Amino acid sequence: MTVTRFGIVGCGSAAVPVCQAIANLPDTTLARVHDVNVELARDLSERCNVPYTTDVNELLNDSDIDAVYLAVPHDLLAGLARQVLQANKHALVEKPLALTLDEIDELIALAEEKQRALGVFYEMRYADSFRQARELVQAKRLGEIFGVKMQTLIDKKLTYWNVGYSGRSANPWRGEKKRAGGGVTLMNTSHLLDALWYVTNLQVTRVAAESGTLVAHVEVEDTLAATLRFHNGALGSLFAGAHIVGAHAGEAFEIYGTHGTLRVPDPYSDEPLEIFLRTRWNDIPAATWHMLPRASVNVFERAVQDFARAVQNNARAPINGNDARRVLQIILAMYRAAEEKRAVNLQ
Ligand SMILES: NC(=O)c1ccc[n+]([C@@H]2O[C@H](COP(=O)([O-])OP(=O)(O)OC[C@H]3O[C@@H](n4cnc5c(N)ncnc54)[C@H](O)[C@@H]3O)[C@@H](O)[C@H]2O)c1
Repeated sequence: MTVTRFGIVGCGSAAVPVCQAIANLPDTTLARVHDVNVELARDLSERCNVPYTTDVNELLNDSDIDAVYLAVPHDLLAGLARQVLQANKHALVEKPLALTLDEIDELIALAEEKQRALGVFYEMRYADSFRQARELVQAKRLGEIFGVKMQTLIDKKLTYWNVGYSGRSANPWRGEKKRAGGGVTLMNTSHLLDALWYVTNLQVTRVAAESGTLVAHVEVEDTLAATLRFHNGALGSLFAGAHIVGAHAGEAFEIYGTHGTLRVPDPYSDEPLEIFLRTRWNDIPAATWHMLPRASVNVFERAVQDFARAVQNNARAPINGNDARRVLQIILAMYRAAEEKRAVNLQ
């Protein structure tokens, strides 16, 4: 069996489940971790029983490492990804991969030139709810899709902006426009936009939006409302809020088709999918809400596994620069639409 040997750069919150996934999988191993914060580097190295370094070059020059998982603040992702690819290693980069489309285009070209995989960690796509939704939509069970309603409703503590959800790394980067690039939309809705495309293959062609920092004292948006037009003429709406009091399992969407409606639940919850069809199909009855139970999937393991398989087969990463580009383009268009108070077309 070929084994993919990983290094990790950035030992904050995101790295913890990924380091466990790398350790659990049969064909991946972790060789070394790096962080500029020595305490976090040491902590992750102890959790995963591997050496740590505070010198990124030591990790990049380590010939026992094939691929590097990057989980650092948003403004550092693209630069470090470039360094990883230039060191002839495969890069598995946290979302959103970069803060500009130009940076993403450069990384895609560099990965191509170096013949290395460029993966992006939109692991939520692997949730069983999205797999089932994709199968139903692709099989045209809903008919033609003409509408989508998305929501990112989260009840974050105000301390989130300084220490994240877990409190593992105390750093206010998430609330700083230059470092984070955006707020709840880029940080959270990005996963939903990736999943929506995975499920429906609908391409966004135009957006209008309003955004605000209405609750928290930060530079990025904590609330955003948007309307979307898709390539087939369908319409969509999004409401994203980081401080929705009492929100629970609120990162979800509904898909409206000419033959049926599908409610796709929050991937972080274990709520079932709900479907309403005009006509019976297999064991889904007509004209009533029907629940479809979901399997529990370790999305971190699936994401690492799929990426490692691509590395082993010299194939393109399953979730890659093009996926990151699609999501970032939509979100940047929403930010621009809100700022310029006009609808923005996507090319
Ligand atoms: N896919 C997911 O489900 C998921 C979940 C959480 C976070 N994320 C993403 O992961 C990334 C990191 O987020 P986080 O929550 O772990 O942040 P964090 O602040 O907890 O961790 C970031 C780490 O990067 C380190 N760091 C900063 N500068 C560095 C440098 N120059 N070199 C090496 N390390 C450096 C910090 O010391 C810190 O330990 C972001 O892109 C975020 O969007 C993804």
